[in-house]
Amino acid sequence: MLSAVRRCYNLKPQVPRVRYLCSTTVPAGSKVSAHSFEDFVHKRQEEATRSVIVQVSSERSFPELYNYCRDYGNIISAFHYCVRHDDVQHYILLEYENAQQASEAIDSAAYNEDLTGVPVRSPFLWFRATGRKTIQRDTVSGSKTQLAALDGIRIMDNEALMGTLREAVDIEKQIALLYENTKLNDLGIRLRFLAASQVQQAISGMFPLARALPFGSSVNGFGKNGCDLDLILRLDEECKGPDSKKRPESRLVFHTKENLTNGRSQTQRQMESIGDMLHLFLPGVCHVRRILQARVPIIKYHHEHLNLEIDLSMSNLSGFYMSELLFMFGEFDERVRPLIFCIRRWAQSCGLTNPSPGRWISNFSLTCLVIFFLQQTKQPILPSINTLIRSAAPEDVRITEDGINCTFARNFEAIGFSSKNSNKISDLLLQFFEFYSQFDFQNKAISLNEGRAVSKPDHSALYIVNPLEQLLNVSKNVSLEECERLRIEVRNAAWVLESEVENYQQTGVDKSQEPWGLLNLFKTPDKNIIRPNMFFKPRILEVSELFDNTETPPATKSTSSNTATA
Ligand code: CTP
Ligand code: MG
Repeated sequence: MLSAVRRCYNLKPQVPRVRYLCSTTVPAGSKVSAHSFEDFVHKRQEEATRSVIVQVSSERSFPELYNYCRDYGNIISAFHYCVRHDDVQHYILLEYENAQQASEAIDSAAYNEDLTGVPVRSPFLWFRATGRKTIQRDTVSGSKTQLAALDGIRIMDNEALMGTLREAVDIEKQIALLYENTKLNDLGIRLRFLAASQVQQAISGMFPLARALPFGSSVNGFGKNGCDLDLILRLDEECKGPDSKKRPESRLVFHTKENLTNGRSQTQRQMESIGDMLHLFLPGVCHVRRILQARVPIIKYHHEHLNLEIDLSMSNLSGFYMSELLFMFGEFDERVRPLIFCIRRWAQSCGLTNPSPGRWISNFSLTCLVIFFLQQTKQPILPSINTLIRSAAPEDVRITEDGINCTFARNFEAIGFSSKNSNKISDLLLQFFEFYSQFDFQNKAISLNEGRAVSKPDHSALYIVNPLEQLLNVSKNVSLEECERLRIEVRNAAWVLESEVENYQQTGVDKSQEPWGLLNLFKTPDKNIIRPNMFFKPRILEVSELFDNTETPPATKSTSSNTATA
C-alpha cells in the first residue's frame, strides 16, 4: 500500500525539511548530534533570569519603554504579546544581556502607593505614564532593537489554519505547515520558563536550593501554542542546581526542621503552604486550586499576566525525566514531531482526546502510541528505551527520591542509533493508522522499553507500559468504549487518507475543490451520521482521579474540600 502511496505522489522517498526546537536539521536515517535536554533547560532558565515583563498600554509604548529600561543594561531582544479577557492587556518581554541588568531594572521599580497589596519583588512590572510628552530617543539615536514579536502568543484560529493547509501543494506540505503554525513558539517557551522562575525566585530566600522546572509539553517538543504548563517544584537538591554541591566540606552546617510525617503527607502539607503563598502573594497568580488527594498531588492556578494554566507538583520528578525521554525521541529524527502534531490534531478533531481528563486517551498516551509505532516499523525510526538504558554512562544515572530509576543515555553519539527508513511523513501517517487498525489491543500491551508488543498483564482496555515505572499502565484511565472508539477512528482515518491519496492521483490538488488532504482527515464528524462510537457517552473524571495509574479510579470523589479558589 505504501508503494502505492508513493506512486500516487510520484515521489522518491525524500527528506522532509522542518526545523527542530533545538535547530538541527538532518537527513532521515542519519545520526543526530542534537542539543541535550539539560542544555536546553539550562539555557531557557538562564534566559528567564535575564528577562522582565512590563505591562504597557499598547505596543506603541515600546520605544519609550526601551529608552527608559536601557538605562539598566543592554536590551538584546523584546517581544510584545496580548492577553485577552474582557479587554486586551498588552505586555512587553525585555531580555537583558545579563541577569544583573534585569535585576537592576527590577530593583529600580517602585511600589504603587495608591494600590492595596503586599509589596512583592517579581519580574512582573507595569510602565506608568508620566503625563509629560517624552522624546522618543529610540528614533533619535537610531537604535536597531525592534520588537521581535507583535501579539506573539496569539493562536491561529482554526479557519485561518485550514485556509493555510488548503493552499499547500501536497499532504506532506500540509503536515509541515500544521507543525510550523501550531507548535509552541519561542515566546511561549520564554513565558513558561518565566513562570517557573517567578516561583523559584519567590521562595529562594528561605529555600536556596529550591528549583522550579517546567516539564511536559512545554519542554518536550510536542507542545502546541497555548498548551498548559506542568511545573515541578523541588525544595531540596534533587533537581541539581549549580550551587547544590558548593560547600560539601564546610564545618558549619545548617539546622533544619525534622520531617515528622511520611513522604506523601509531608508533601501534601508543604503544598498547602506553597498554595497559600502563591494565592496570597504572587502577582498574576489567580484561581488557585489544590488537588492534593491525587496520586501526584498538584496545585492548579492561572497566571493572568502570562495567560497560562499551570499545574504545579512537588513529587513527580519522573515526569520531568519522562519529558527528557520524549524530547530525545523528537531529536532523533525530524519526522517525529510533525507526525505527532498531525496525529494529535486528528485525535482532537474526532473527539478522541479532550482537554478535560477522563476515560479517553490523553495526549501523552497518544504520543507513546506514535513513538511505539516508529520503534517497530520494518526499519525502525526510533530506538527502544532499552537501547538507551544499555548505552547509559555513569553520568546518566538518575534515581528519584522515591526510587524510580530514570537512568538512560543522554548522549546521542553513545546511543549510536541510526535509521535507514526514509519514508515520507505522509507515508508514516497512513502506516500509523493501518498499524493500529490491526493492533491486538485485547491481548497485547505496548512496551516502548522493548520496542515491541508484550502480553497484557491485566484487563485494562489499553495497556501502555509506563517507560519509567514499568509496573504501571500509562493509559489505565482509558475505558473499553474509548479504546473501541480509537480502533474505529484509526480505521476511518486510514480509509479517508487512502481516498485522499487516490483523489490526488486522479486530479492532483485542485484548490478550488475544497477541502482536501488533511482537511478531510480533520473534519469534525457529521452529526447526522450515526457511527458506532456515538453510542458511548464519555464521562469527565473528577480532578482527584487524575494521574492515578495504579488503581482503577473510584466512581466519584469530591475535591471541594481541597479547593481554594482565589
Ligand atoms: N507523565 C508521566 N506519566 C503519566 C502522565 C504524565 O510520566 N502517566 C508525564 C509526561 O512527561 C508528560 C507530563 O507528565 O509529558 C505531563 O503530563 P500531561 O500534562 O498529561 O501531558 P503533556 O505531555 O504535557 O500533554 P498536554 O499538552 O496534553 O498537556
Ligand atoms: Mg501538560
